[in-house]
Amino acid sequence: MLRSETSPYRKAMTMALAPLRFRGVPRRSRLVVIAVFCLCFMLFLPRHDLGIGKTLGFFLFGPGLAGSHGRGTPKIDILRFVDPLIGTANGGHVFPGASLPYGMAKAVADTRSPAENAAGFVSDEHQILGYSHMHDSGTGGNPSMGNFPLFVHPGCPDDDFTKCDYSTLYRGTNRVPGSVYASPGYFSINTTNGIRAEMTVTEHAALYRFTFPGTDHINVTAYEDLPRESKIVPYSPLIVIDSLDLSGSRSNGSFAIDPKTGRATASGRYSPSFGQGFYDAYFCADFRGADIRKTGTFIAKNVTEVPKHSDIVYHMGSAGTWVQFHKPEEHAIMARVGISFISIDKACANAEKEIPDFSFLRVEKEARAAWKEKLGAIEVDAAGVSEELQTTFWSGLYRTLLSPQNYTGENQLWNSSEPYFDSFYCIWDSFRAQHPLLTIIDPEAQTEMVRALIDIYRHVGKLPDCRMTFSKGYTQGGSNADIVIGDAFIKNLTQGIDWDTAYEAVVSDAEVEPAAWGVEGRGNLVSWHELGYIPWNDNDVNGTGPHSRTISRGVEYAYDDFCISFLAEGLGHTEDASKYFLRGGNWANYWNPEQRDVYRDHRGEVMQTNFTGFMQPRLYNGTFIYQNTRTCSPIHDTHSCYYDTGFDTYEGSPWLYSFFVPQDMNALIKLMGGPSRFVERLNFFHTSGISYMGNEQGFLPVYQFHYAGRPALSSYWTHQYIPSLFNATVNGIPGNDDCAMGAFSAFAMMGFFPVAGQDVYLLSAPFFPEVRIRAKIPGKWAVIRTKNFDPERKAIYIQSATLNGRRYDLNWISHEFFIKGGVLEFEVGEEEGSWGTRAEDLPPSYATWEEGGEPEWLRTIRPGGEGKADGDVDEGGGGGRRGDRS
Ligand SMILES: *[C@@H]1O[C@H](CO)[C@@H](O)[C@H](O)[C@H]1NC(C)=O
Ligand SMILES: *[C@@H]1O[C@H](CO)[C@@H](O)[C@H](O)[C@H]1NC(C)=O
Ligand SMILES: *[C@@H]1O[C@H](CO)[C@@H](O)[C@H](O)[C@H]1NC(C)=O
Ligand SMILES: *[C@@H]1O[C@H](CO)[C@@H](O)[C@H](O)[C@H]1NC(C)=O
Ligand SMILES: *[C@@H]1O[C@H](CO)[C@@H](O)[C@H](O)[C@H]1NC(C)=O
Ligand SMILES: *[C@@H]1O[C@H](CO)[C@@H](O)[C@H](O)[C@H]1NC(C)=O
Ligand SMILES: *[C@@H]1O[C@H](CO)[C@@H](O)[C@H](O)[C@H]1NC(C)=O
Ligand SMILES: *[C@@H]1O[C@H](CO)[C@@H](O)[C@H](O)[C@H]1NC(C)=O
Ligand SMILES: *[C@@H]1O[C@H](CO)[C@@H](O)[C@H](O)[C@H]1NC(C)=O
Repeated sequence: MLRSETSPYRKAMTMALAPLRFRGVPRRSRLVVIAVFCLCFMLFLPRHDLGIGKTLGFFLFGPGLAGSHGRGTPKIDILRFVDPLIGTANGGHVFPGASLPYGMAKAVADTRSPAENAAGFVSDEHQILGYSHMHDSGTGGNPSMGNFPLFVHPGCPDDDFTKCDYSTLYRGTNRVPGSVYASPGYFSINTTNGIRAEMTVTEHAALYRFTFPGTDHINVTAYEDLPRESKIVPYSPLIVIDSLDLSGSRSNGSFAIDPKTGRATASGRYSPSFGQGFYDAYFCADFRGADIRKTGTFIAKNVTEVPKHSDIVYHMGSAGTWVQFHKPEEHAIMARVGISFISIDKACANAEKEIPDFSFLRVEKEARAAWKEKLGAIEVDAAGVSEELQTTFWSGLYRTLLSPQNYTGENQLWNSSEPYFDSFYCIWDSFRAQHPLLTIIDPEAQTEMVRALIDIYRHVGKLPDCRMTFSKGYTQGGSNADIVIGDAFIKNLTQGIDWDTAYEAVVSDAEVEPAAWGVEGRGNLVSWHELGYIPWNDNDVNGTGPHSRTISRGVEYAYDDFCISFLAEGLGHTEDASKYFLRGGNWANYWNPEQRDVYRDHRGEVMQTNFTGFMQPRLYNGTFIYQNTRTCSPIHDTHSCYYDTGFDTYEGSPWLYSFFVPQDMNALIKLMGGPSRFVERLNFFHTSGISYMGNEQGFLPVYQFHYAGRPALSSYWTHQYIPSLFNATVNGIPGNDDCAMGAFSAFAMMGFFPVAGQDVYLLSAPFFPEVRIRAKIPGKWAVIRTKNFDPERKAIYIQSATLNGRRYDLNWISHEFFIKGGVLEFEVGEEEGSWGTRAEDLPPSYATWEEGGEPEWLRTIRPGGEGKADGDVDEGGGGGRRGDRS
């Protein structure tokens, strides 16, 4: 509650408790509701409204108590605990190379690793194909960018440049086992052709140092598996400058080399890795350290000394320039690479401006300083905490800051004075933990990102759900930028944000269906408005997109609308606020109370659990149809639910999506049979293999025990998953990082987790004796302390808490803590306690049920039929058989 007059949360709470909805609530619940309301009210109310402002203000945030800055804790080099290689195997797709926070230049060695090299480098045995300067981190989809790789030969067979390998198909070299080293702003690797490659970066340029053995002859085939004509080459380094990207998407381009200066330039048109359209990229390289011997160009295997430049029109594969050197004096060659999305001149200017001195030491030092400054928003007292856990923590935080990338000043699509960020990849992944974490530790950056989203709306006509390299990416579910924008609003990120345009943008998502809703906005909106759900057999004439995911899109649309209602209320659009608030209840239209959980056991026998009631697909006439409740969980048809695979859920099962009601957990818990049945179900979800922590929808269900009055179980599960699934090994994250997996582990280890889109953080036992987070008000810190911290991690249940010295029973806290600072202190024990368990301790839910009845919105839709509740195990009616629909 951060905004005095128009506090959206307070209004929402008031709306939730409006007389209409309140009618019929049993007397006892009324008291509970009133109690919860009062507590929320006190928390959210600006101090002066209470009439005791000064006193309470002093109590809550007075000078003596408001988070003093870690006195007496020795400063340690936190970068020591950042291991960028975590998540570079096992599908993590983490970018481990040199980058600044949100940096556009991202330099690393690219490996051939099929299906794994989305971010360029993979910790495996595959060959190194070159060194390139732009990447994304942690994505699925095709390999991203990797344009203009350099490849270095120490010399060519028989000293004949035509006998060197130029194209990606042939030029790979092996890595020296154990030679990879990465730290913030730095990456290095030795290859078996005798070269050590080191790299560091500025915002828009990369600096490489290639070191040679210094002997007159070099054995280039050590450990090499491919047969070569000659294994020994004379020492005369040759650098290949390819204009291809990692996924080989270049459609045209040009390249040139200056035979005197050795300056190599190139441009190309490429395809985005998970979207439509194309983008242009530009490159400029200069070399130092050796005299130029020969230069030339190549297209595939045709290598020549003349001409010195060429346009590539028809050729799809490797093509570019090369430069061969005499022996380098210091046995090292520096390559300085400028990149741009505007022009070759801009690429050269970026390099000249940012790295005029070719000083590896300076550039690396400044990169490290930038990381230290960003990560300095957090301090921990790590007494008794293992190196491994500290590494998991700091590395996760570090990865959270790799993307979206700051392309301000490099926007090739429009001129604007607004910031431009790219690689929102995808908001479906990042709204849940990454953006909320940035909102706390780097609110300035998060504000610029929100402004960039609004500027994208201004110039493109819709907010993105997914965006990379100036292209529209595929929308996975809802229009979840609505949540990011709503979250920014309620957390008071105001600096320079044009809220009127922001509001126009989210209303456009909610009201206007675009022609191609696979890449922006929402689909099936006419039915969404009329029926309150997306019918399986909808006839959508307003736009086209993959008519799949009716459940998962629907529950996300409902939450998007709910988040829009806060913004509407805060900006004074009261009628809209009620409309979107009501639409926030549309999730309930997917609830089939009869649906059973039927499956086959390992012997093939048909079994069922005693959990009844799941989100299910529905026909236009209201009748439920059937999708197996476990389809697309790790234990049943895992990989069947993608963008256009026909099922009604996206990358997850109805089991999972049946928990996605962050706006009304109270109602959901009632539908699931009350708190104890709910807890049984959520525990089953985590123990049965149906939950999957490698995808972002898995995060919130770890914490939803809070809503049933069992915060201890949330603590239990965070301590189960960390470190067993989130740890400091190269395969230490359970799925694509998306810059989000690390945000989850960082939050969980600090002792709280956001309910994105609401002013709510759920509290759990931290993994450190003390965590200090730099508050938004300068000089203040939000301190989370565990009085009797247990390094053995057996005492992981909060028994009691105080906030600024006063008893604190709520099992959640609001953002004000991170704005003003303060001290939240826990006492923990080995057994579940009573802290945070009472109805009035629980996080807010807005729906109140009328006695024995259904929620209001259920009655406003068409009557549903009996449906097919028992469903056959494998004959999932919903999925894949949609040919008969238009
Ligand atoms: C929210 O932001 C406004 C404008 O920047 C500021 O005046 C106000 O004090 C902020 N509120 C809090 C609680 O920080
Ligand atoms: C990598 O190469 C450098 C310099 O050429 C050498 O000093 C270092 O020992 C090598 N590292 C490994 C692991 O081979
Ligand atoms: C080059 O190295 C490979 C692998 O170590 C070795 O088998 C081969 O004999 C070497 N060639 C020469 C000419 O030394
Ligand atoms: C090789 O490239 C040169 C220069 O671009 C061109 O003149 C020649 O025709 C090419 N040769 C082949 C075999 O494509
Ligand atoms: C983004 O880049 C612009 C231009 O270089 C710079 O002014 C701004 O501070 C950067 N933003 C962040 C969050 O780093
Ligand atoms: C659907 O198309 C009709 C006809 O063009 C238009 O009037 C209506 O506003 C559209 N509805 C949505 C939700 O976009
Ligand atoms: C549901 O089944 C589980 C195990 O099969 C059992 O422990 C539990 O008591 C059952 N609950 C109800 C309400 O039947
Ligand atoms: C680390 O995490 C990975 C991925 O989640 C998991 O497979 C592995 O077992 C974990 N390793 C340890 C030592 O816990
Ligand atoms: C809805 O349509 C389906 C399929 O045509 C039909 O089986 C079902 O009986 C209908 N339900 C109602 C309530 O009309």
